[in-house]
Amino acid sequence: MKRVLTFELVPGMKLAKNVYNYDNHQLLVSAGTILTDETISRLAYYSIIDVHIDETYEAEPEEEETGEAEASSYVERLRRTPQFIKFKADFEENADLFEKRINQVVKKNGDLHVDSLVEPVLKMVDDTGNPSSVFDMLHALRSYDDLTYMHSINVSLICNVLGQWLKFDDEEVRVLTAAGLLHDIGKILVPGDLIAKPSKLTKYEYAIVQRHAYDGYMVLKDLDINEHIKNAALMHHERMDGSGYPLHLKGEQIDSYAKIVAIADVYDAMTSPRVYRGALCPFVAISLFEREGLQKYESKYILTFLECIVNTYLLNRVRLTNGMEGEIVFINREFLSKPTIKVGDAYVDLTQYPDIAIEKII
Ligand SMILES: [Fe+2]
Ligand SMILES: [Fe+2]
Repeated sequence: MKRVLTFELVPGMKLAKNVYNYDNHQLLVSAGTILTDETISRLAYYSIIDVHIDETYEAEPEEEETGEAEASSYVERLRRTPQFIKFKADFEENADLFEKRINQVVKKNGDLHVDSLVEPVLKMVDDTGNPSSVFDMLHALRSYDDLTYMHSINVSLICNVLGQWLKFDDEEVRVLTAAGLLHDIGKILVPGDLIAKPSKLTKYEYAIVQRHAYDGYMVLKDLDINEHIKNAALMHHERMDGSGYPLHLKGEQIDSYAKIVAIADVYDAMTSPRVYRGALCPFVAISLFEREGLQKYESKYILTFLECIVNTYLLNRVRLTNGMEGEIVFINREFLSKPTIKVGDAYVDLTQYPDIAIEKII
């Protein structure tokens, strides 16, 4: 039995122990389960850090290779556009810059200039010309990498776009972008060897990992920056139904900016690439949100978020789990992960086919 971090899991691995939700001890996946892409995303959805894998089990070899090899031509096309090439270069440059500046703040008590941190992110969104295309770009950008810094910029970009979708004004969007950028600042204080530890974390060590929200708040607390930014660091793991941490806050007790960061954070964790595949298809992520229930998130934020993502892909070609291919022509607001697809001359309303889902954007 060995400990494996959630982002390193691969379908076909066998769970050696039950996995429980950290706060209410609800059984999420039981021992003996052979992991699939979906179970792994579900673990990410519940912010599970690591699980125990049965090393003696050998997965049956996959019959058909469906993975990066045929990285959808859609993503391939996007990756060749000048717009994307620029986005990628800017992203990488900003990640380096951000890493240096943040380390100065956390480890050397340097000053935190929120404006100069946020400026490059705002510019990246501006340069795309259309905020919705940021999602597309992130989807195509993803390479396998779990750096806190990359994650922070992803969350920041998602917050920025979501703020615009929610019709926040420029100043509010700016603060929200900064809140996304700094939400995990406390993670820099978690010792690296703890994250990489091969054996099971002790209760105490788990507590240290979970404490990053509180630690981040302590780093920011006395700085002259917007209170929403501080609250987002403290409260981004809180959930509307009280199931989050560290303070188990509920509903209106949670800062509204923290509620938005929470959505961007979990979406990024779910869709980010794994060792065995590229980015998770947005529709798979959306259906996971719909199935697990939206009660953990502020409904006006989560509904706008999911609906706008789906809208981004209207008229795109997709492949369904039964192998059919077609174009998204009509979005169902009640079931966002199940739009109507035009396959040849036929219109397939996915709400009528519980067993069929969108598997990939092509
Ligand atoms: Fe976090
Ligand atoms: Fe995060």
